[in-house]
Amino acid sequence: MKAIVLAGGTGSRLFPSTKGVSKQLLPVYDKPMIYYPLAVVMQAQIQEILIITTAEDQQAFQRLLQDGNPWGINIIYAVQKEPKGIAEALILGADFIGNDDIMLILGDNIFYGAGLSNQIQQAQNELRNNQASIFAYYVDQPQRYGVVTFDSQAKALAIEEKPKNPTSNYAVTGVYFYPNDALILTQKLTPSNRGELEITDLNQIYLNQNRLQVKILPEGFAWLDTGTHESLIEAGQFVYTLEKRQGLKLGCLEEIAFKNGWITQKQLLSWAATFSSSSYGSYLIQKYSTKQ
Ligand code: G1P
Repeated sequence: MKAIVLAGGTGSRLFPSTKGVSKQLLPVYDKPMIYYPLAVVMQAQIQEILIITTAEDQQAFQRLLQDGNPWGINIIYAVQKEPKGIAEALILGADFIGNDDIMLILGDNIFYGAGLSNQIQQAQNELRNNQASIFAYYVDQPQRYGVVTFDSQAKALAIEEKPKNPTSNYAVTGVYFYPNDALILTQKLTPSNRGELEITDLNQIYLNQNRLQVKILPEGFAWLDTGTHESLIEAGQFVYTLEKRQGLKLGCLEEIAFKNGWITQKQLLSWAATFSSSSYGSYLIQKYSTKQ
């Protein structure tokens, strides 16, 4: 299984902050935004990762994440020339994916909560039955997202992109698991009114084929948006509060890599030594210098 992290887009809703830097490189408290979705990919035990960026931002992502070696993963990069939709990631990433199943995640989505690994595991199991999986989350403003219509038995009936009159409060989050044939099905999509290949249209195809699992993320789970100035600072405050209270780190790639057995304690520490003057670096050094 391979993963694609989509980190393209102009980030226009965050202008002028994103005029000089990609949105997904902005900090969410103590680390760049893209660390959070990357952490989810690593929790899914996936080591082959494609990061799709705009042409002008690619170098900055490469400077930050290199070839993934510090975390025991393999990262390669591709360019999305124009923001032509999330589903285009499956066209741009087709060669990279080859014959594998696919995890696709948006570079600006932050997930937090107990049971995330379990949810991911279930989605991965469904792939063996040739089923795609997406996740729905109860939100206050569903019209900003893809929205799921459920019947009275909580069975998904339809998904609509940014509906004016949403039929439910369940938004589709930005993590998707697809069988390999998503690469073929995506080729059949045509651009929407906003000129994008919509991931919602692909999901609707799977739904029509009875091959889409829509899992509702449990209450108490956090799916955070970072698309506006307000939601970005809220996400930062959320991470800050949790990290301070628990003395733990969210989206800590080094920690996940170590737990997965992809890097040794020695590798973790020598990497952390390169940024020991930050609280992120000193957290790692303190925590793992003593660990046996
Ligand atoms: C995209 C998808 C939408 C989904 C959202 C999650 O919206 O089109 O279905 O709910 O991501 O973040 P966009 O980022 O294009 O506004």
